[in-house]
Amino acid sequence: MSSTVFSFPTATVFGAGAISEVAERLKQLRVARPLVVTDAGLLSTPAFQALARALGDQDRDRRWFVYSGVHANPVQNDVREAAAHFRRYKCDGVIGLGGGSPLDVGKAARLLVKRPDFKLEKFYEEADWSGLVPFIAIPTTAGTGSEVGRSSVITLDATQRKTVLFHPKLLARLVILDPELTIGLPPKLTAATGADALTHCIESYTCPVFHPMCDGIALEGIHLIVDALPRAYRDGKDMDARGKMLVAAAMGAVAFQKDLGVVHSLAHPLSTLCHMHHGLANALCLVAGMKFCAARKPGLYRRVGIACGLDLNRSTDSDADQATIGFISELLASLGLKAKLSEHGVSKVNLDDLVAQAFDDPCHKTNAVPVTREDLRNLYLEVL
Ligand SMILES: [Fe+2]
Repeated sequence: MSSTVFSFPTATVFGAGAISEVAERLKQLRVARPLVVTDAGLLSTPAFQALARALGDQDRDRRWFVYSGVHANPVQNDVREAAAHFRRYKCDGVIGLGGGSPLDVGKAARLLVKRPDFKLEKFYEEADWSGLVPFIAIPTTAGTGSEVGRSSVITLDATQRKTVLFHPKLLARLVILDPELTIGLPPKLTAATGADALTHCIESYTCPVFHPMCDGIALEGIHLIVDALPRAYRDGKDMDARGKMLVAAAMGAVAFQKDLGVVHSLAHPLSTLCHMHHGLANALCLVAGMKFCAARKPGLYRRVGIACGLDLNRSTDSDADQATIGFISELLASLGLKAKLSEHGVSKVNLDDLVAQAFDDPCHKTNAVPVTREDLRNLYLEVL
């Protein structure tokens, strides 16, 4: 038996209004001059205003500072600029506020704070991970779970490809999960980000790596999402649903320490080549990916279905899979997430490039069943 590393280390404060604790929490972390890393769109939102109030509106540009240049798909220059702001204002800690992108830039900027001349493309060979300044993650969406992740996805200058910078030291020292910060998220984005979290839970649970702790977390994440996501979609102010979605998104990301599967390999090129929202791309590929896996590994989704609340204990393997996939398909349709890729600007012209990038993507290598280049082509054709 090969050995496996289990790790669940991030301190997390959860609750409506938890953002008000941020000043006290910074003190505990000995951070006196934080740099808030976010994107321009967030500056006018109640989420940013709540953080500004908690840090002291009057102290902005005196005791806390803002870098708001993060792109929707972060690039190397975002990380450079965030680190330059940090040095200019003599900051001593980073707060990432937003969806996955600001959190990823905030995490990675600490590397350049320490060594301004460090080349991110050399991070595997040359990065010095010791003594990074503290990072506090405050998500305003419930999807990527980047707040509890050990990686940062940045498009590098040299390759123009999304590159995963990975190291346990990138982890946040503290996560603040405050559902009040997510109530402004419109239904469409609530649905798409929630579908990302659901896909994380389903793909990590079915990924054939031995990690029963992650499996338990993934199944409970599914249980929370199928209850809370439709409610958060229908009524954005449902604080109970928003809270459960925030926790479930973090659980999905904790669970995918195990790794992901074919659906994420299909989704990644749809974002890089066709600029599709990551959660939407997952949602449109999820059911086809599940059918593909179930046909080759009958019974794979029985416990996923039970986590959804279905009574499948006495069902045959194929009935259990069919019922579960049917349930997920109806759930996605009820969230406005049932469409063909062609309705979102993808066409057969893109097919060869999509297949090539999907095959290069590492996620399908840990899929529940092996995936060939031809399988990827057929899956795209099925959802096109
Ligand atoms: Fe994802």
